[in-house]
Amino acid sequence: MKSPRSLIRPLVHDLHAYVPGEQPKIKGLIKLNTNENPYPPSPRVLKAVKAAVDSRLRLYPNPTAQVLREKLAKLHGCGPENIIIGNGSDEVLALAVRALVEPSRKPEAKSRKSKSLVQYFTPSYSLYPVLADIHGAVKNAVPLNANFTMPSVAELRRAGVWDFNAALTFVTTPNAPSGRGYATAELEKLCRAMNGVIVLDEAYVDFAREHAMKLAMKHPHVLVARTFSKAYSLCFQRVGYFVGHAELIAALDKIRDSYNVNGLGQVAAVATLEDLKYYRANFRKIISTREELSRALTLLGFRVLPSQTNFILVKPPGGGLTAEDWLQKLREKKILVRWFKYPEVKDYLRITIGTPEEAKALVRATKSILSL
Ligand SMILES: Cc1ncc(COP(=O)(O)O)c(C=O)c1O
Repeated sequence: MKSPRSLIRPLVHDLHAYVPGEQPKIKGLIKLNTNENPYPPSPRVLKAVKAAVDSRLRLYPNPTAQVLREKLAKLHGCGPENIIIGNGSDEVLALAVRALVEPSRKPEAKSRKSKSLVQYFTPSYSLYPVLADIHGAVKNAVPLNANFTMPSVAELRRAGVWDFNAALTFVTTPNAPSGRGYATAELEKLCRAMNGVIVLDEAYVDFAREHAMKLAMKHPHVLVARTFSKAYSLCFQRVGYFVGHAELIAALDKIRDSYNVNGLGQVAAVATLEDLKYYRANFRKIISTREELSRALTLLGFRVLPSQTNFILVKPPGGGLTAEDWLQKLREKKILVRWFKYPEVKDYLRITIGTPEEAKALVRATKSILSL
């Protein structure tokens, strides 16, 4: 009899799957670990979703998320043909790998290798290498500068490790997990220098000073990824999208599942776009809490990196406790934050910005750990 193991592709055997942040069931826990929004969706969104829960659930949803694409097109000043919606932006990122990158597990001649290359900075969103591995692509992980700024094109050329012909390059902007924002002018220089497709992953951009959406309209090889998860309080519904050249979008559209975006997700996202004022007020609240918490933790001896996102990356003060110890100590006080094992960030904690009350509770817990 065949062992099930022998039936699985070696590539899948060897895969290190993406590890999502914990979703604990413990009561009373303050959850600052997965960059969710502390504020609920707008009342109009809740009403629209509730109103859609009836016998229509037996029907397939609109296969192209037509209404949502039309509304997004209006918002971004493009056509619906420039937009593809995914089951979260994770899905459109995966579609880009599948549609644009040639699988290859063997060492190849340099020109062939570029066609199989998924390229990204480290640290950035840890899903990119997993998507490359699932596809059997070649990875090129290039370090950001030590302070998480992006090397300039000239620096990348000098260092010789960046492939300007890579089939697909991902840039998390603003960066996760550092929170560092990048200027559109700087991103445009990089885009201009690239010959392959470049995805600007703007998952957190609503908390930043500027966005680079215009680059998706201006350059045919630039895709901008957005999500309703973080800024629009809709993680549960899984809706994200790309904006880009109609030909690239059509290629991705060809390989997606017919009904990839669930019906209630479409309803919720459409209603979200009808109440942007509500969300913009939330962005302001979150940014103000971010700045206040950053000041408070700095005063307690933390090194807080400047953030343009809904989280901060902080280095706890010396005093015998590692960042991993802090993760544990805060958990004992019912506050869940995120710690990553990766060498570039293992001395830091990533803290999602919650409500002002949650920020105060975090500061209280921190003082108590420091015995202040
Ligand atoms: C940089 C970045 N991009 C994309 C995503 C995926 O978002 P979603 O699939 O919920 O749209 C995340 C989620 O953590 C992220 O941090």
